[in-house]
Amino acid sequence: MSAGGQLVLGIETSCDETSAALLRGEHELLAQVILSQDVHEVYGGVVPELASRAHVRVIDEVVDSALRQAGVTLADVDVFAVTAGPGLIGALLVGVAWAKSAAWANDKPVVGVHHMEAHLFAASIEEPRAQPPFVGLLVSGGHTLLLWVPEWGVYEKLGETRDDAAGEAFDKTAKLLGLGYPGGPVIERSAKQGDARAHALPRPMLSTTQTPADPDYYDFSFSGLKTAVATRVRELGAAGRLESETANLAASFQAAVIDTLVAKTMRAVEAKGCRRVLIGGGVAASRALRDALASALGPDGELYYPSPRLATDNGAMIARAGLFRHERGEHADLDLGARPDLPFPGLVGARA
Ligand code: KG4
Ligand code: ZN
Repeated sequence: MSAGGQLVLGIETSCDETSAALLRGEHELLAQVILSQDVHEVYGGVVPELASRAHVRVIDEVVDSALRQAGVTLADVDVFAVTAGPGLIGALLVGVAWAKSAAWANDKPVVGVHHMEAHLFAASIEEPRAQPPFVGLLVSGGHTLLLWVPEWGVYEKLGETRDDAAGEAFDKTAKLLGLGYPGGPVIERSAKQGDARAHALPRPMLSTTQTPADPDYYDFSFSGLKTAVATRVRELGAAGRLESETANLAASFQAAVIDTLVAKTMRAVEAKGCRRVLIGGGVAASRALRDALASALGPDGELYYPSPRLATDNGAMIARAGLFRHERGEHADLDLGARPDLPFPGLVGARA
């Protein structure tokens, strides 16, 4: 072990980003390379087989480039951390196979990381105060989870989406509006030119009559919202007003998603009596979401979120979560497999 802590190589290939990062200890990010696959853009969504092939083509170069930037070699790496799930099976397998071979060849441990637990760790890399206890909101392209985190490794699931994930709703809505992929950033850009009150859209699963005893008190649902946008797109298209209303619709949609995310998060804040909130996942890159949460929390609240390079999929968060699991002695064997449905580790409580 070198000065400053263990050197962890984090590898992420669960979806459409190939990423490798070198992290020394908990906070020293020596290098990170993220290659976003653009082959999916014309399809308006990720095509799994194309993703796997693209990972295979670039993974050697992505890792080499990260090592070069960090000024280290593979032999210097103390721990190999890799996303083992959830994600696309073919895509995950590329990273898992790569990490296992490198760990074996260098006689070092390999750690399988849960992608969503890694998103939870992302903010803490650059912000040492981003520590439990906190209410955690994980919002990505594949998942939407509301957690109570009393300490790292202990996760009480309060709520989750019943259908589409928050990021998925952004992606599908952007496609409906003809704005491109991924949807989050383009909708946020378009929304800035629009009026969020222009179109009355539903806030699914959000009503003031819900009580903590209701099963949907903390849960989310975004597919009805997407359908409402689709209907509005059809109506506006027929009236020849779609183009002039796109920004208004984007703003109204974004506000509906954010209202719901903020309201459910604040319910958790009240229930747990803890005004510290941490967000993770690609949607945490949304400035609009962060501003809305900060204002809901007020001046005595604390909000932690990852910087843009650590919000969407990246190798650094995999290294950080891998370090946590490594320190607990949780190493994988060479039979580590990729699991598209890998369960969230450390779930406790009624919904575990
Ligand atoms: O965490 P991530 O990179 O990949 C998954 O694990 O799924 O999240 C990607 C998601 C996409 O759905 C993308 O549209 C969304 O994050 N996203 C955003 C923003 N930037 C990325 N959603 C809303 N606003 C943004 N600024
Ligand atoms: Zn992700």
